[in-house]
Amino acid sequence: MRKAVEIINLVKKFGNFVAVDNLSLDIYEGEIFGLLGPNGSGKTTTLLTIATVYKPTSGDVRVFGYSVVRDGDMVRKLVGMAFQEPKALGIDKPYDLLMWHARMVGYSAGDAKKVVREVMDSLGLWEHRDKYFYQLSGGTRKKVEIAKVLIQRPRVAIFDEPTAQVDVISKHVLWDAIKELRKEGSTIIISTNDMFEAERVCERIAIIYRGRLRAVGTVQELKDSMPYGDVIELSVAGKDIDVSKVLEILNSFGRVSVNGSTFMVYVNRGEEKAIEIVDALRRRGITISRIMVKEPTLDDVFFYITGAKLKEE
Ligand SMILES: Nc1ncnc2c1ncn2[C@@H]1O[C@H](COP(=O)(O)OP(=O)(O)OP(=O)(O)O)[C@@H](O)[C@H]1O
Ligand SMILES: [Mg+2]
Repeated sequence: MRKAVEIINLVKKFGNFVAVDNLSLDIYEGEIFGLLGPNGSGKTTTLLTIATVYKPTSGDVRVFGYSVVRDGDMVRKLVGMAFQEPKALGIDKPYDLLMWHARMVGYSAGDAKKVVREVMDSLGLWEHRDKYFYQLSGGTRKKVEIAKVLIQRPRVAIFDEPTAQVDVISKHVLWDAIKELRKEGSTIIISTNDMFEAERVCERIAIIYRGRLRAVGTVQELKDSMPYGDVIELSVAGKDIDVSKVLEILNSFGRVSVNGSTFMVYVNRGEEKAIEIVDALRRRGITISRIMVKEPTLDDVFFYITGAKLKEE
């Protein structure tokens, strides 16, 4: 697999404060990659460094081999970024801003009109095209910011917390648009502190906390990395259940707790273990009336790895 972005021992300090602490990370061409971490963990700083807004204090970032330190102009041709805090650049209205942006990234006047209309329609922005920026809601302004990148279709598309402040229906519209952009060939990097978004959209995730990489992998890999994070919950059919016999069998699979006629088994790789448990009980003549596997959430994983919560409750 070809690396789209290679973050190499990246350090970014503001004064003495270390915002990004020796971060190394590979992002592959064509994937949707997520940076997951709570407020202040260094997501925006990392993304702004990839986009050449910030210079590394030390280390480097390569975008398709080009260094943000040495080849900034090339990197800027390859990367497009939707900022966490949208700025209107002195242009008053969404349509004018997006037309300007489309021309900037190389569309002819005719093609610009077409693509701007298409993208504005797809995000429900067309009705807002002639409003002033100060009249737009926070979520709508965020959509205009994202529209810029959808129009640009850069090789590497960066979305910094794309759906913060956005309502649930619009979140789905934006996620679909981001996935569509990937289908058209862009590599996608998003940052989020929303585990649901990370799980639903990202194929691989880096957990970062206080500027440091704490874990990286697919959602499934991260969940499986949590020892005994899966819970198999099952009930046994029948009136007089031989609890000690059931326990004896279940104990060989992991720690067990009992609540009435419900048994909970804490295991790794719950999906596989559940099948083995069904078999083992059946061989001993015990019938299961109900079984389910509960995986840990990414919140659970984050807490396990960092000891901190993703969000305040
Ligand atoms: N320009 C700056 N000057 C000084 N400190 C900064 C600057 N930019 C970021 N920081 C600090 O660096 C740390 C990381 O900030 P960053 O914005 O990268 O976090 P984040 O993960 O994007 O957080 P959020 O989820 O709130 O957007 C924070 O403690 C922040 O206060
Ligand atoms: Mg941020």
